[in-house]
Amino acid sequence: MDIKKIKEQSFGKLDEIKNLNELERFRIKYLGRKGIITAILRSLKDLSIKEKKYIGRAANLLKEKLEEAMKEKIKKISAQDEVRQERQNDRIDITAPGIKLPQGHLHPITQVLRQVEEIFQSMGFKIIEGPDIETEYYNFDALNIPDEHPARDAWDTFWLKTKPEKLLRTHTSPMQIRYMEENNPPLRIIVPGRVFRYEATDSSHSHTFYQIEGLMVDKNLPTGRQGVNVANFKAVIEEFFNRLFSKDIKARLRPGYFPFTEPSFEVDIKGGRFKKWLEIMGAGMVHPNVFKAAGYNPANWQGFAFGLGLDRIAMMKYGIDDIRLFYKGDLRFLNQF
Ligand code: FA5
Repeated sequence: MDIKKIKEQSFGKLDEIKNLNELERFRIKYLGRKGIITAILRSLKDLSIKEKKYIGRAANLLKEKLEEAMKEKIKKISAQDEVRQERQNDRIDITAPGIKLPQGHLHPITQVLRQVEEIFQSMGFKIIEGPDIETEYYNFDALNIPDEHPARDAWDTFWLKTKPEKLLRTHTSPMQIRYMEENNPPLRIIVPGRVFRYEATDSSHSHTFYQIEGLMVDKNLPTGRQGVNVANFKAVIEEFFNRLFSKDIKARLRPGYFPFTEPSFEVDIKGGRFKKWLEIMGAGMVHPNVFKAAGYNPANWQGFAFGLGLDRIAMMKYGIDDIRLFYKGDLRFLNQF
C-alpha cells in the first residue's frame, strides 16, 4: 500500500480519536504485531535494495511520527478527562436538600398587639391608626388640656422644629378627637400606636413605647339611662384581661385624674399569675369638653375611653422585667419569642 495514503489515513483517524480505548485500537491497527505499518516493515525483505531503502525509511519515519502523535494524543485526552472530572465535581446536585435560611418572626410587642387586636375585634371594636407626629391642638387643647395647664407637665414631649410647631404624640388619645370629627356614634374603636415622651428611661419607662387607646360612645337612652356606662367599661376590660391572661383576673378601678375624662380611673388587675394589684391603664368617661371639641353635643352622648400601655402588657405576658429590652434589637433576647 502507498505509504503516503497510509499516512493521510492514519493521521486523519488519529484526529477523530476521543478516548484511550479508541487510541489503543488505533495502535493495534497500525503498529500492533499484525498492524499495517508492522506488515510493511516485515515485507521489506522481499523488496529490491532500492525499494527497501526508500520504503523502509518512509515506513520507519511514519512509525516514529505516529508514535509521537499518539503520545501527544494521550496527553490531550488525559487533560480533557481532568477537565471533565472537575466539571463533574462542580456539578450542582439539584436533588440535594437545600440549606435552610434562618427564619425571622414577629417582635414580641407585635405578637401581643395581634392578640389584643383579635380580642377587641371579637367584641366589635374597629382598629384605627393615627399619625405619630401630632399638632399641639390634638395632643393637648382638644383633649381639655389648655396651654399652661399643669397636666401638660405629665406628658412632656419632643417638639419638632416645624412651623406651626408640631410634636411627637405623647399618647394615643388625640385619635379620639380625630376619629369623632370624622365619624358619628355609636362607635367602638381601638387605636394602637407608638407614643413618645421626653423622660428618663428605667426598667419600666421608655421614651418610646406603645399604647392602645380605646373609645366606645353611644346615645344616652330616653329613659335617662346612660348608653355606655362605667359598668360596661369594667365588663369589657375584665373580658379583655380574662382572654389575654387567664379566667380569674379581676379589674379594680381607683379614682384617677385625666383632663379628658370625668370621672377618671386608674385600672389595676389581680389574679392568675399576678398576686398583687398591678396598675395597667388609665381610663374614664369621656369629658363633655372632649365631645364638644369633636363636634358632638355632650347632652346626647356618653362614652368611655382608656389608654393601655402595650409594653407593660407584653412584659406581664412574658415575664420580662426590663422594658428597654424591647428596643435594643438584641437577637439573644428576641429569639426567645
Ligand atoms: C395616658 O397616656 C392617657 N392618655 C390614658 C388615657 C386614655 C386615660 C383615655 C383616660 C382615657 P398615662 O400617661 O398614665 O395616660 O399612660 C397610660 C399607660 O401607658 C400607663 O398606664 C402605662 O402602662 C403606659 N406608660 C406610660 N408611660 C410609660 C413609659 N414611659 N414607658 C412605658 N409605658 C408607659
